[in-house]
Amino acid sequence: MKYNFDDIIDRKNTNALKWEPAILKERFGEEDVLPLWVADMDFNTPKPVVDAIINRAKHGIYGYSVRLDNYYQAVINWQKRRHNWTISKDSIVYTPGIVPAINYMIQAFCETDDKVIIQTPVYYPFKESIKNNGCKVVNNPLLYDGEKYTIDFDDFEKKAKDKRLKLFILCSPHNPVGRVWTKEELLKIGKICIENDVIVISDEIHNDLILGNNQHIVFANVSEEFSNNSIICTAPSKTFNVPGLETSHIIIGNKKLRNSYKRILTKNAIGGQNPMSIAALKAAYNESEEWLEQLLTYLEDNVEFIDDYLKNNMPRVKLVRPQATYLAWLDFRSIEKDYKKLDHIISKEAKVALDSGHWFGTNGSGFMRINFACPRGILKEALDRISKAINK
Ligand SMILES: Cc1ncc(COP(=O)(O)O)c(C=O)c1O
Repeated sequence: MKYNFDDIIDRKNTNALKWEPAILKERFGEEDVLPLWVADMDFNTPKPVVDAIINRAKHGIYGYSVRLDNYYQAVINWQKRRHNWTISKDSIVYTPGIVPAINYMIQAFCETDDKVIIQTPVYYPFKESIKNNGCKVVNNPLLYDGEKYTIDFDDFEKKAKDKRLKLFILCSPHNPVGRVWTKEELLKIGKICIENDVIVISDEIHNDLILGNNQHIVFANVSEEFSNNSIICTAPSKTFNVPGLETSHIIIGNKKLRNSYKRILTKNAIGGQNPMSIAALKAAYNESEEWLEQLLTYLEDNVEFIDDYLKNNMPRVKLVRPQATYLAWLDFRSIEKDYKKLDHIISKEAKVALDSGHWFGTNGSGFMRINFACPRGILKEALDRISKAINK
């Protein structure tokens, strides 16, 4: 089946966070901004997923539901097929979302005032989760050479020696800078963590959205030692555009770590799941790979579109080419370094809603994150508006 990603679907009046005027007003000061911010897609989810939810809905009774073997098998087969990663049913811990899971992990593995290290600019709920649980954020800023982001290993190693540092939240692939970490990079950072007793939480929510010839490596798949010292967060949310179904799988090979994590879930009575997401998960992982392949081609073409558009119309805005995800990091610093002024240009003058770079850390000032998981017509409209505001 050929999917059409060019169709513009009206998401207004569907409680969509991304498009809701009251939310846009609150966040961007304007109701009528074109939204290319929060990370969900303006595409329909694959037909098998829609059909599975409709079929389940038709039944009419939505009682307490359980996950059966075929549910876990769908997760196991997906990881094997897409990532060559062999996991056992026991290692999979359902959690209703990766951000909640990260909060539970901090509760499981940290005492008050313990420290957690992150790599800015990075997905901002990481720092909020750390602070909300009474812990301290340690920052290992990524290095940027004007083209590409890399890890500052020396700085990381220095900070890892702190006995209060308990966790490292790795974003792999990285949101917002779009890096797919190489085996060498993972080996280096993972080794420092093992040497310093720092547990690695590898947030791999974007790991199915790999662009071009890049190769994602699941952190736990690097070696048995790495698997023993890590927790891998996966989900169909980004891959199949179902984040509202709140379904994620936290995969923990190490039994001791798994039991500590599960104890916190038990304390909070987490474990039940809604029947729609059970039906959707199976249809996504078992029947929707063809949709994903077509989506990836469309996303790659959108990256080319952005790159060409910038070169032709806004040569001073630089695209940091994403190796993964549907989020692109744009460098506006040669136009405006001050984030308040840049925010004003984008939301008030261009009337476009983008994630402001400084949300991701102070080294994100002067950058913007654009969500390009939308029909090309919307992407062009957003870029036209930005170009007009900048070139005024
Ligand atoms: C790196 C990363 N982790 C987690 C999430 C959200 O996960 P969830 O909706 O499962 O809480 C996002 C969403 O954008 C993300 O980019």
